[in-house]
Amino acid sequence: MPILFQNDFQHAFPRVNELQVSKTAKFLLALAGRSDAELSVLLVDDQHIAELNKTWRRKSGPTNVLSFSLTEGEDLTRAGNLLGDIVISVDTAAREARKERISVHQRLNVLLVHGLLHLLGYDHEKSDSEAERMFRKERELLLELKRKRREEMIRLAVNVDHVATLREARGISEPDPVLAAGICELAGAEGIVVHLREDRRHIQDRDVLILRQTVKTKLNLEMGANQEIIKFALKVKPDMVTLVPEKRQELTTEGGLNVAGQKKKLKNVISQMNDNGIPVSLFIDPDSRQIEASHNIGATFVEIHTGRYCDATSEEETEQEFELIVAAAEDAYEAGLRVNAGHGLNYVNTTRVASLDTIEELSIGHAVMARAIFVGLDQAVREMLGLMM
Ligand code: PXP
Repeated sequence: MPILFQNDFQHAFPRVNELQVSKTAKFLLALAGRSDAELSVLLVDDQHIAELNKTWRRKSGPTNVLSFSLTEGEDLTRAGNLLGDIVISVDTAAREARKERISVHQRLNVLLVHGLLHLLGYDHEKSDSEAERMFRKERELLLELKRKRREEMIRLAVNVDHVATLREARGISEPDPVLAAGICELAGAEGIVVHLREDRRHIQDRDVLILRQTVKTKLNLEMGANQEIIKFALKVKPDMVTLVPEKRQELTTEGGLNVAGQKKKLKNVISQMNDNGIPVSLFIDPDSRQIEASHNIGATFVEIHTGRYCDATSEEETEQEFELIVAAAEDAYEAGLRVNAGHGLNYVNTTRVASLDTIEELSIGHAVMARAIFVGLDQAVREMLGLMM
């Protein structure tokens, strides 16, 4: 057990993915060639770290990270394999993350690396050359972490509904969402999403039937839980379905499903789909009640609704909504659900969501199609993928 992880940060926000932090610490130990060693990682708040800072460094106020080496000093035998403790203030990490416009977990990674290097004997306060040596090593480890993340990179699924919206505006056969799906896949998208609405305002039955034959990655059929569409889905057998609430008058899907309020009905749809080998995702708001209900009725995935984060009009609101997504994705992940996210994501707000290791896939439609009008669909998809790295 090389990582002794303890989370003493008791505040509701920001939520920390404990699994992710201890997995990262373990990976860093291996990178540093110290898989044999043990490391204690403690997450605290500003008040707690300020007390430690005062006691051990005679400095007032909070700091971001403190390292306490057990391999320094005389009593090395007591340390055994334990390198020492890294104490991180989540409050300070969150403030620094906001300033740098990165996620709290990205900032926690930087602080973990910094704290670990201190335990391994690096010390930027010793001399300029030591500082240079430490910062070089820091950059090297962070690059390795990034490389690892890229290997486990979050996938992009492109929603091609709006190609059909344009076609239907003319009532002719162009542009064809089937062709668009192929271009998206060639550009690197790993899934195609279509919403077959009850009113057939954009995607038609014909589109789904042909896409079933042509999509080489994964066809995700978004749909309301109504009998006619359920029957159609069972006939077509997409790779997965995403159940969404559907109102006739809405311009686009307006909110998440109230899973908790219709468990029996949704459970029935899920088991019908599962019996036919089709996994089900439930599109829900970032709300723990909906996550629990989704888990209880046997959903395979949840798709976290990112709309409120994307539509937020102040920095404060953006931060609050983002933290709700972080917490919901972690709750769902820890409950054993697979986690996707989407709605309203664009070329400005996607990177932060894509940085969450709990999320497997983003479903993005409108922003990609809007950009494609000006730069072409291939480039619009590639640019979005670039932002997700
Ligand atoms: N996910 C779901 C469940 C949706 O209903 C939509 C919109 O069709 C999206 C993702 C994509 O949203 P956007 O078009 O805003 O990217």
